[in-house]
Amino acid sequence: MVIENITIPPISPDKSTKVLFVCLGNICRSPAAEGVLLNIVDHEGTTDEWIIDSAGTGNYHIGQLPDRRMRVHARARGIELTHHCRQVNASDFREFDLIIPMDAANADDLKYMAPDDASERKIIPMARFFAPGTHYDYVPDPYYEGAEGFELVLDLLNDAVQNLYDTVSHIKSRH
Ligand code: 4NP
Repeated sequence: MVIENITIPPISPDKSTKVLFVCLGNICRSPAAEGVLLNIVDHEGTTDEWIIDSAGTGNYHIGQLPDRRMRVHARARGIELTHHCRQVNASDFREFDLIIPMDAANADDLKYMAPDDASERKIIPMARFFAPGTHYDYVPDPYYEGAEGFELVLDLLNDAVQNLYDTVSHIKSRH
């Protein structure tokens, strides 16, 4: 679904679109979002038009694979998560076109880090891509939850990341 009335920074149709998903730990939500988008571009045959990464605002798990529970739930949907955890850094604001936080705390941390206004405009909450009527306005942290928390994250991300893909593809096709 193409999301209307969304203000996103200019996206060049001639270059790869660079997307960075961000959460707190970079072991649950943001690597899952990365895996969902990698699967979509693979399916659509547009892998070479995208650069997709994820990072955490925190530094608790640097170098680690995603949480085993997240990997198990994602694998059941055909999504392999192979990202290794890293922390967001200042150069990410230059490098990426879109920086997508999972919740309000992630967004606030990113805004605090953003070196200038142009960088801040790259920060678009994942929930901005939720379909109208979605019962959440953020992607809830599943770390202290049971299996249903991980399933909920994947359900929300399946929709939101597809909508991000559709919306950016639509904008690029208009150029
Ligand atoms: P994430 O979940 O932000 O979705 O990766 C978390 C993972 C680890 C921690 C918090 C949230 N932690 O506090 O270690």
